[in-house]
Amino acid sequence: MFGFHYRLERKSIGLVLMIVAVASVGGLFEIAPLFTIHQTVEAAPNMRVYTPLELAGRNIYIREGCYACHSQMIRTLRDEVERYGHYSLAVESKYDHPMLWGSKRTGPDLARLGGKYSDEWHVVHLNNPRDVVPESVMPAYAWLSRNELRVDDLSGHLKAQRAVGVPYTDDMIANAPTDAYGQAAPDSTAAEGVSSRYGKETNIRAFDGKPNQLTEMDALVAYLQILGRLTDVAGKPVAAAGE
Ligand code: HEC
Repeated sequence: MFGFHYRLERKSIGLVLMIVAVASVGGLFEIAPLFTIHQTVEAAPNMRVYTPLELAGRNIYIREGCYACHSQMIRTLRDEVERYGHYSLAVESKYDHPMLWGSKRTGPDLARLGGKYSDEWHVVHLNNPRDVVPESVMPAYAWLSRNELRVDDLSGHLKAQRAVGVPYTDDMIANAPTDAYGQAAPDSTAAEGVSSRYGKETNIRAFDGKPNQLTEMDALVAYLQILGRLTDVAGKPVAAAGE
């Protein structure tokens, strides 16, 4: 064995070929499972895409670096499932570009946060976490309630998402700025367009508590309230998830 190695080290071409052969074993282990990926990822026929307002909220989540303290991926470990709910399924991240699974939890996992708290709770918490959780080390994001949400670039954001495979229609892209307004103003005429394009279950309300203005707080809370709720596939028995 060592004799073979000793001789090989003296033949540069032979050594290079052996290095390539040995290194490719690791690659094979990474690539081979991808050939069966269609059996691994569950089907979720009723899954909807993010609305323009939720997508804007997602962009704010990325801008503010929330992912540095919060993960969005519940592992299959028992303690995680008991604390956060059903472990995350691959299909639930289907429309996440880029994915926000995260690698560090200073704060809790947020993958199934949607519906856990009221909008008011989120607004108070984001303005100053210490007001609702006295021992919290989370920073305050008070400017979100003051900053008007930028909507003129939303169609471009939807288009970029479509380029990487999210099924936004031309109709959704053209109406993105109006839909962002409509989702946070339930009494406006623009609200109807949101439910017809994104489904009746879509949350349409003044997320920041002020229906006459569209702020970054509206967008971020709309996003937090939909986490884990784009599809109900995880709510079904695991065996049925692939059907
Ligand atoms: C420095 C780390 C840190 C950053 C950055 C951070 N958080 Fe937190 N977050 C925490 C901690 C710690 C908690 C637990 C205490 C609390 O509830 O405030 C928490 C709790 C939360 C909760 C409540 C979760 C639950 O299930 O009770 C939400 C929602 C949340 N954060 C959202 C955000 C959002 C949105 C951002 C970005 C705007 C953000 N966090 C940025 C540390 C952070």
